[in-house]
Amino acid sequence: MQIPFVDLKAQYETLKDDVAEAIRGILDSAQFIGGEALASFERDFAAYCQTCHARGVANGTDALHLALRALGIGDGDEVITTAHTFIATAAAIAATGARPVFVDIEPDTCTIDPRMIERAVTDHTKAIVAVHLFGQPADMDPIKDIARRRSLHVIEDAAQAHGAEYQGVRTGALGDVACFSFYPGKNLGAYGDGGAVTTNNAAIAERIERLRDHGRTSHYSHAEVGFNSRLDALQAAILKIKLRHLDDWNANRRRAAEWYNAELAQSGIKTPLVRRGSTHVYHLYVIVTNERDAIRKRLDEAGVATGIHYPVPLHLQPAFVHLGYRQGDLPYCEAMAAQSLSLPMFPELARHQVHRIAAIVRAAAEQDGHERLRLGSTYPSAAQRIDAAKELR
Ligand SMILES: Cc1ncc(COP(=O)(O)O)c(C=O)c1O
Repeated sequence: MQIPFVDLKAQYETLKDDVAEAIRGILDSAQFIGGEALASFERDFAAYCQTCHARGVANGTDALHLALRALGIGDGDEVITTAHTFIATAAAIAATGARPVFVDIEPDTCTIDPRMIERAVTDHTKAIVAVHLFGQPADMDPIKDIARRRSLHVIEDAAQAHGAEYQGVRTGALGDVACFSFYPGKNLGAYGDGGAVTTNNAAIAERIERLRDHGRTSHYSHAEVGFNSRLDALQAAILKIKLRHLDDWNANRRRAAEWYNAELAQSGIKTPLVRRGSTHVYHLYVIVTNERDAIRKRLDEAGVATGIHYPVPLHLQPAFVHLGYRQGDLPYCEAMAAQSLSLPMFPELARHQVHRIAAIVRAAAEQDGHERLRLGSTYPSAAQRIDAAKELR
């Protein structure tokens, strides 16, 4: 029995009729760009995120790029973020002409370490992009405190964290501006590409609206050079339907995470830690283990799909070689790249599937551990490597 990494078909089966009706409505109206379908989804999404404004854009990368531009960030500026994220976070910074400055993560939550931000601030620093990685909000209070003291903007990369909360506040409402992706596999996913920016600042919302549509102020009047980055009406109509189910889907993801946690509790494998006062929406369920490669192989042989998020930290990517980082600069990001494994996670994941996956993981970890002992391997445990990384600081 194969177990996929995500199962988009299972979810579609439950929505088929509603989606077909929404698509028919757009086709009948022939309003494919903008219009009421977009405005209506933007209103719903802003309300869901507890913000005053939401603006749809073409994808999550553009959401970040346009948000940075709307804040006036560009050539010569520095923007602090983490290296343990998808490349889009830093690519969007680079696209403005600014320099991405990478700092390390907290090993327990995999989100940016606020203490490292403080050390990285220079006279050129303009903003912090806090990534709510895997569905867990970054530690926003200390981040916002640094931003206030050093006059920096705070941008949320919420591409993986629709509906997560930090101290009772939803992602999207935690910084100056927040950026979402609706890539199909995301917690709220479109049937194609899509993204959104949320904010409580009317001027930022207005600027995003202009930037996503060729800098337009009226049909043939362009106040600035902008982009073509719109969320189309079909995707907006589909997202409006799916948004109604998001809380239930996130609850199912949390339930699956609890099953995994219980099954792996005595295995010596590190399971995700949720920060006190936060809710995690488990876009990904990521374990940390020395036996990562052996476990992955065993799961693959058993027909269970897995992922690695992310195998090469951004400071060591060829695309950013010109920034001058070296191996060892960000020990926790590097440790996670070597030891983390993403297990199947989607709202429809069943109890028996988690049970089967966890049994394979436990058996593989035990067998590989014994093998190392038998060979007298001195390879350090995950905990030892984390401690070693601490000492490097
Ligand atoms: C953390 C993060 N930021 C940004 C993005 C970019 O979103 P998109 O693929 O919609 O451009 C993604 C999507 O994978 C992501 O995971």
